[in-house]
Amino acid sequence: MKTLKLGTSPKDIQAAAELLKKGELVAFPTETVYGLGADATNTQAIEHVFTVKGRPTDNPLIVHIAEKNDVNFLSPINQMDDLFIKKQFEVLADAFWPGPLTIILPRNENIPDTVSAGLPTVAVRMPENQTTRALIQECGFPLVGPSANISGKPSPTTADHVLQDLDGAIAAVVDGGPCTVGIESTVIDISILPLILRPGAITQTDIENILQTPVSFAATDTEDQTPRSPGVKYKHYAPTTPISILRAEDLKETEDFSTALILSPIPLHSIKSGELMILSTQTLYAGFRKADQDKRERIVIVLTDEIEKQKGLMNRIFKAAGTNRT
Ligand code: TXA
Ligand code: MG
Repeated sequence: MKTLKLGTSPKDIQAAAELLKKGELVAFPTETVYGLGADATNTQAIEHVFTVKGRPTDNPLIVHIAEKNDVNFLSPINQMDDLFIKKQFEVLADAFWPGPLTIILPRNENIPDTVSAGLPTVAVRMPENQTTRALIQECGFPLVGPSANISGKPSPTTADHVLQDLDGAIAAVVDGGPCTVGIESTVIDISILPLILRPGAITQTDIENILQTPVSFAATDTEDQTPRSPGVKYKHYAPTTPISILRAEDLKETEDFSTALILSPIPLHSIKSGELMILSTQTLYAGFRKADQDKRERIVIVLTDEIEKQKGLMNRIFKAAGTNRT
């Protein structure tokens, strides 16, 4: 199959929608990372998403919608007697949508079980990218959108990253330029009591301020328990190049970094590196992919207090390093 690279013109959005209506897979841009789009109501298309990514079928998918009211197709939230959940949903959606927040809600029967890996809930997100929302509207159905990478690889933050993993395996990618956030959405489960399952650009404090109640993180990062968010138990975001993590003050000028790619939030004039990239959520995955492509011997990630405050970014760094850390 030849993978088309489409732009963001109305004609290209229509072309992408036609492919999706036929059950094909089309990657789309969002502010966080690129998603692998498919018709969320089409069982065969969903199965194809799992196969193409090499994704375990017990790891559910996020469903992307174009406007807040579309939630009623996926969840009975507005018919429920539980005013508490309904209110929390309203408050979160009004504050953070469109944007990098995924909300887990009770699920109804309109989408196949496979989307949610059999769970009684559904993960819903309204992305900020206008092209992608226009695409969903043009389709007339919501789109599943796991990150558009092979499972276990770093998520794609450009259309070219998508093609590195999936060229020839999907019908098209809509090129909306580089992602502005660069790491995946914050995931909050409000189906029981509010619980953050995955940290991201929208922080615990942002959420607590809006809900006016303390909200905790799910303690799930071990393989031996059943996590609320199945995806967190899998290896993730990992380059094949080994990763070393260093505090800025521990960098030694005498050490040889000539074969390394250094990701540092601050310029390091006295250190000789193979390559230096400025570390941020926008550059992390691109750096991982570049180190692999350039066959660097290692990736050195330099931490400062500012970086350590960014929980979403730190989560991705440690997940990546945890799998093959030097
Ligand atoms: O920013 C994002 O969320 C991107 C863009 C494309 O929207 N998508 C994304 O999808 O990161 P994915 O599939 O790579 O990550 C989805 C995460 C997984 O950890 C999955 O286990 C969790 O969300 N998830 C999905 N549905 C769930 C559910 N019903 N209950 C608990 N966790 C769920
Ligand atoms: Mg992913």
